[in-house]
Amino acid sequence: MKKVTKVNKAVFPVAGLGTRFLPATKAQPKEMLPIVDKPLIQYAVEEAYEAGIRHMVFVTGRSKRAIEDHFDTAYELESELQAAGKMDLLALVRSLAPDDMAFSYVRQPRSLGLGHAVLCAAPIVGDEPFAVLLADDLMRGPAGGKGILSQMVDVFQETPTSLLAVQEVPLAHVRRYGIVAGEPAGDRLVKVQQMVEKPAPEQAPSRLGVSGRYILTPAVFDCIRNQPRGSGGEIQLTDGIAQLIPSEGVHAYLYEGKRYDCGSKQGFLEATVEYALHHPEVGQTFRDYLKGLRD
Ligand code: G1P
Repeated sequence: MKKVTKVNKAVFPVAGLGTRFLPATKAQPKEMLPIVDKPLIQYAVEEAYEAGIRHMVFVTGRSKRAIEDHFDTAYELESELQAAGKMDLLALVRSLAPDDMAFSYVRQPRSLGLGHAVLCAAPIVGDEPFAVLLADDLMRGPAGGKGILSQMVDVFQETPTSLLAVQEVPLAHVRRYGIVAGEPAGDRLVKVQQMVEKPAPEQAPSRLGVSGRYILTPAVFDCIRNQPRGSGGEIQLTDGIAQLIPSEGVHAYLYEGKRYDCGSKQGFLEATVEYALHHPEVGQTFRDYLKGLRD
């Protein structure tokens, strides 16, 4: 039987507390922090949509209601915009959830780690390959080119094993990432032989760090179910994927584009500046403003 290679569903683990952004995240989800004028979660949903995915599955937690509301109808706002004749804004608000997009929400009742969060989506995902997007990794494809998840969907058609987006990271930063090592397996592709979550620099098998984009086969669910706790005492997604290496095989893809770690203040600020510089409305004036800045 031919393997199913169509990726229909994307899982967004959004239950995390966002402690690195307190106090901004005390009463609102970190995924709702905007880069210029769009919340982080919307960038991730748009990236999945561009990759042909139509069913968005959010793994949420308490105090994450704003995310559900963001992709729902906003009756008061919409009728006021209509009454005021602000049709362009009305179209903008409605464009967030196109008619062919479906949403599911499932709660992660306890913060047991990223692997556990993904496992919470298993009843909705079922027995088919799926994508995982971590919204605080904001990913930008090359100018005029495909987004990162679109690139991965293309690779997955040819190589239908679990696939991880990777980039080379400085040695001093390896302890922030899942790190993979393996052998070259084609253009931008590595056949993964080893995978470890947040190693110390002296123990890292390479400098290939996983960014928050994955295409996974459903076999990963059973792996996560049966694994012991890993790094930081958490149920790690990395450990579940590592179990697939000897059975199904796993590949890593050196994506074309750029990642902004918007879970950190530095990355968030870099994304804000670069997205503002490319923004159709404020790009030019913001560039002029930056040029004129003095200490
Ligand atoms: C998670 C994953 C890690 C991955 C990283 C990418 O870590 O566990 O393997 O490299 O996302 O952003 P976190 O940043 O949630 O600690």
